[in-house]
Amino acid sequence: MSETQREGREGVVDYEDEFFKFAEKFDETSRKTSKFRAIEKLADDDGDYKAALSKLKIFYTERRNVLEKTSVNKIEGLEIDEESLKHDIANFAIVQGDQERLLGNGAVAEVFYLRGIYKSDCCVKIVYNEKMYAEGNSLEKEHGFLQKLQDVEVDGVRTPKPFYSFSNLKMKGLVMEELDAFNFRRIIDGFTTAGIKDELPSDFDLDGYFSKLKKYFNHLHSLGIYHGDIALRNLMVNRKTGLPVVIDFGKARLASELDKTNLNLPDYAKSDLAALDSAKAEAKEWFAKTVRKGGGEPSNIDK
Ligand SMILES: Nc1ncnc2c1ncn2[C@@H]1O[C@H](COP(=O)(O)OP(=O)(O)OP(=O)(O)O)[C@@H](O)[C@H]1O
Ligand SMILES: [Mg+2]
Repeated sequence: MSETQREGREGVVDYEDEFFKFAEKFDETSRKTSKFRAIEKLADDDGDYKAALSKLKIFYTERRNVLEKTSVNKIEGLEIDEESLKHDIANFAIVQGDQERLLGNGAVAEVFYLRGIYKSDCCVKIVYNEKMYAEGNSLEKEHGFLQKLQDVEVDGVRTPKPFYSFSNLKMKGLVMEELDAFNFRRIIDGFTTAGIKDELPSDFDLDGYFSKLKKYFNHLHSLGIYHGDIALRNLMVNRKTGLPVVIDFGKARLASELDKTNLNLPDYAKSDLAALDSAKAEAKEWFAKTVRKGGGEPSNIDK
């Protein structure tokens, strides 16, 4: 009987040995994660296999929870199987901690880009305020609206393409196309998104932008879809073309679901258009202040 085995019998644990045995339980993909590698490094650098083993066990449980208890819905547009997607989803906890990936945040969710994870430009909307989000739609329902609208384009106006939505004990999210666009609110507020300054294209036509949106929303209404949350923060401007992109169907409604017997039912089409008018009025006021008379580059004379 060797020295190490005898120690084991006497109750002395060989943590180094235990660590490597436990590490074998991880699948190949999980072993490539930065978290796994960080734990391995901790063990290598400090030789503190006891601490590393306990971190490894926690990571294992977290990872299994996500891999086994995640449901993925309506995957399309990505050449990837469900099992690999689950590994990607398990890595979203790391994405969520990386503020450099943040494209924008609203009252209920944060949106992070997934560059380097998928071949096509994708981002993930992760709900952080589930209680408030649930006052509107479920993420699956929001996903459903983007699916319905993925082939709808009116005068160049469209919505981001959805890839899949998912939920597990820790997180609910929607993976969709990452738009090369800024939300109009952030342009007014003079922000920077993921390292790029939010600016309108130099030849931006404000009236054209809003008349395109009006046509788009009229078309949506003819399809029986009401957006329900039209505001500058949900209207994006394509960086290159200046065309509008409409986001955030978290409060959208279908005409077919409305209780037509309710005489007090609001006129949703009318309120969408009224919301669009007030967004336009605000944008126009800002535009008049910041763009030189007679056209030309926005100059931000207020600054
Ligand atoms: N597909 C996308 N591509 C790039 N940026 C996006 C995309 N979707 C959302 N964003 C950015 O993330 C922000 C938050 O997204 P979203 O509006 O869906 O969240 P929310 O919490 O539901 O917002 P709200 O406060 O309007 O309810 C947007 O304002 C926008 O700046
Ligand atoms: Mg929003």
